[in-house]
Amino acid sequence: MKKRLVVLVSGSGSNLQSILDHCKTGSIDAQVVAVISNRPGVRSLLRAEAYGCAAITIDHTAFENRHEFDKQLQHIIDQYQPDFVVLAGFMRILTEGFVRHFLGKMVNIHPSLLPKYPGLNTHQRAIDAGEHYAGATVHFVTPELDGGPSIAQSPVPITPGVTAKELAKQVLGVEHTLYPTVLQWLCSDRLTLAEDLPQLDGAPLLKPIVISDTASQ
Ligand code: GRF
Repeated sequence: MKKRLVVLVSGSGSNLQSILDHCKTGSIDAQVVAVISNRPGVRSLLRAEAYGCAAITIDHTAFENRHEFDKQLQHIIDQYQPDFVVLAGFMRILTEGFVRHFLGKMVNIHPSLLPKYPGLNTHQRAIDAGEHYAGATVHFVTPELDGGPSIAQSPVPITPGVTAKELAKQVLGVEHTLYPTVLQWLCSDRLTLAEDLPQLDGAPLLKPIVISDTASQ
């Protein structure tokens, strides 16, 4: 039985597209059953329609507070009975109850080498700090923002004079390999969260696996 994924988005969805493509070819052994956006009219919804799954908008501005929004979001997600919930550019802080409901089943991709630079504006902060590397991290989601246990990372060298915009594009490029790789580990039951630590093939990951562009598996 193919695993069922629900993907949460807020924007254009280049990561979503990569996930949909990998599901189509079978290199992620799963089907995306629904894409849910908190913003109306975003390109991600068109990508979901073209793939042929449910494309749902739950506009967060229509809810009184974060708790009410998360309650409705959880209700809709549960209807699709996903094995995993995949955050792909979902720009909302989630409440603790929501996160706990999906603990061990929800992953996120963040555009920095966590634990460095959680939050926003990651590339400019890395450049300003004189870092030699930027990159992306996939992690299990816990109530701490961008603070859940890291699974895998792809570093990107910061070349002298590069702008934050250029760096963002380079990092996004490696995300499109990194995320499907980790999702296939999850969907093939190789990756779990056990006692707050990711386990790959039964061994705890004490630090994230480094996946570079040339050695992506
Ligand atoms: C990516 O940089 C991802 O790391 C972050 O949000 C961005 C989403 O980009 N969480 P896209 O919508 O997938 O193109």
